[in-house]
Amino acid sequence: MEKIEVFSEELKEIISRKNIKKIIFIGGSDTGKTTLLKDICRFLLTAKISTGIVDCDVGQSFVGPPSTISFVKIKNRVFEFFPFPDKFYFTGGITPGANIIGFLTGIEKMKGIVEKETGKILIDTTGYIKDKLAISLKIHKIEIFSPHLVILLEKRDELQDIKRFLKYTSGKFFVIKIPDGFPVKTMEERSRNRMERFKRYFSKIKCVEIDLREVSLKVIGFRNIQSYEEILSLNLKGAVVSLRDNCLEDRIIGVFYQKKGEKAEVIIPDKKIEFEISGLVISNLFVDLNEVFINTHGGE
Ligand SMILES: Nc1ncnc2c1ncn2[C@@H]1O[C@H](COP(=O)(O)OP(=O)(O)OP(=O)(O)O)[C@@H](O)[C@H]1O
Ligand SMILES: [Mg+2]
Repeated sequence: MEKIEVFSEELKEIISRKNIKKIIFIGGSDTGKTTLLKDICRFLLTAKISTGIVDCDVGQSFVGPPSTISFVKIKNRVFEFFPFPDKFYFTGGITPGANIIGFLTGIEKMKGIVEKETGKILIDTTGYIKDKLAISLKIHKIEIFSPHLVILLEKRDELQDIKRFLKYTSGKFFVIKIPDGFPVKTMEERSRNRMERFKRYFSKIKCVEIDLREVSLKVIGFRNIQSYEEILSLNLKGAVVSLRDNCLEDRIIGVFYQKKGEKAEVIIPDKKIEFEISGLVISNLFVDLNEVFINTHGGE
């Protein structure tokens, strides 16, 4: 399909304004949020304006592996996927609804990071807008980030409640009407994209042993199980985990391999670990090890 120009001169002028720093993109699935965000990012870099991206799309993230909310400072006009962002928060889910508390905690943490940045910040979000909870999440995301500009990508009038919420506030919003006919990703394609990103993240791997008695432990999901002890007694092979430093910062995503006595074997990317592993977050998001680690020996 031929590219439809949605990045208008008017929008270029608005985003170039000095007082417009935090810009958030909101719209349903496949409305072109990420494509427009990348176009704007390239435009800003060409104008030599320092730009960072926060990717809150835990399902289809291009900054950070799936299940994370991530921040990266962009250095180059050519980019596709950033497996290893500058900062990330592990939500343990591939939809915001899977872990709403964790999702909003991640947003709050990112806000802290963004506040320290001097350049422009482009914030990508999920296309999840279809029910009241989804709209409420978007509204709370806006409340937390307090963006200077909200770019709304709308097909019909599906964002009317958000527009109503934004009316009469000092932050600006800009509506782009999306014509029919944008290509739509099927659930299968979305799932394949996600798997590809996990695969890229784990393209070179190693195994680390973590003594469970010597790290802080956090568990996400496993709704019907009461104690951490009980969860640790389950077969956790394939559970996506995060390794943390002693400041409760997520530093590396891994996959639980097996428990040996009091120790957990976790598969992580083969990179130098530049922190002391002080925390382990175990989620109930499971991946198929054979699928994720298939190309680990120089396949691609
Ligand atoms: N301006 C455009 N003209 C034509 N096609 C476009 C345009 N922008 C995006 N597309 C296409 O529409 C599809 C969806 O785009 P994109 O992934 O940017 O949307 P999104 O809103 O970020 O989706 P998601 O809901 O997955 O986050 C893609 O196939 C993309 O190539
Ligand atoms: Mg997107």
